[in-house]
Amino acid sequence: MSTSAVEIQASTLAGYAEASRLRQVQDRDWVLDQVTGAPEVLVDLGSGIGQLLESALDRLPSLRLAVGLERSEHRIAEAGERLRRHGDRVALHRADLTSPPPLELGADVVTMTSVLHWLHPVEDRIADWVADRLNPDGRFLLTTYHPAADEHGLGGEDDIVRDALTALGVERDAVPGLFAQRRIVPIATRTRSTDGLDELLGRRLRTAAVLEREAVVTVGSAAQYEHFHAATFGDYYSRLVEPALGAAFFRAVGEAAWRRQQELGRVSSMPVRLWTLAPLG
Ligand SMILES: C[S@@+](CC[C@H](N)C(=O)[O-])C[C@H]1O[C@@H](n2cnc3c(N)ncnc32)[C@H](O)[C@@H]1O
Repeated sequence: MSTSAVEIQASTLAGYAEASRLRQVQDRDWVLDQVTGAPEVLVDLGSGIGQLLESALDRLPSLRLAVGLERSEHRIAEAGERLRRHGDRVALHRADLTSPPPLELGADVVTMTSVLHWLHPVEDRIADWVADRLNPDGRFLLTTYHPAADEHGLGGEDDIVRDALTALGVERDAVPGLFAQRRIVPIATRTRSTDGLDELLGRRLRTAAVLEREAVVTVGSAAQYEHFHAATFGDYYSRLVEPALGAAFFRAVGEAAWRRQQELGRVSSMPVRLWTLAPLG
């Protein structure tokens, strides 16, 4: 059986510029609005296709170096294209943040948006890495999403996936067991509570400020959400089904989201927190 277009999209995390308009891009100016002074070095962790770096370079003429660290080679390549016009003000590195690279630099600003849950359960490593590289007046601007979790640790996107699996014939009660069997850690489990994060981050960093907003996702069609899911979560969840059901899985995710949109007037809604963290001093 041939691989469908949406499965190819998921395997390369393609289409993020379009998909991220539904949620992630809405954090970009919120985060950059917290930057004060005239920073010279900014590092974006999990820099994706370079959207935050591009805005930072445009908004902050004081920046002489904007560094992106990102795991996906496809995303690094797209970011390189997007940022080419900024020449040697940009450095992009392919890196796995669960084992952050020994880069030598002093940063005035470090940003990390919509990434920390992917580093579970070793988020302390990136907190250490940042604390070791922030200049004394530097700030770490971090966003974390907080979906409500059920007694199995599922919530947020996991719920939409559960609806999709049920539509494909999986018993609803069997879904948490299927996650465990396929070693897929639910996103609502990967996302620690705000108290848990406070404790984890507080070992090396001081919380200087906290802001919160509600992130509401709405869509105009099932297909739009299908592509948002593929661009955002890639093949993370599609490993819950047999390869032959891959295309049907993505379609079912889109349809599950569209049902929510029609019933509730939105697909999802969850708090997102913006932390401003400083060195302990
Ligand atoms: C939801 S996207 C967020 C991208 C961007 N920061 C934004 O706010 O739009 C998560 C990004 O983190 C990257 N990522 C996930 N796990 C990673 C890891 N272990 N190391 C480096 N990057 C990672 C993904 O490839 C993806 O680009």
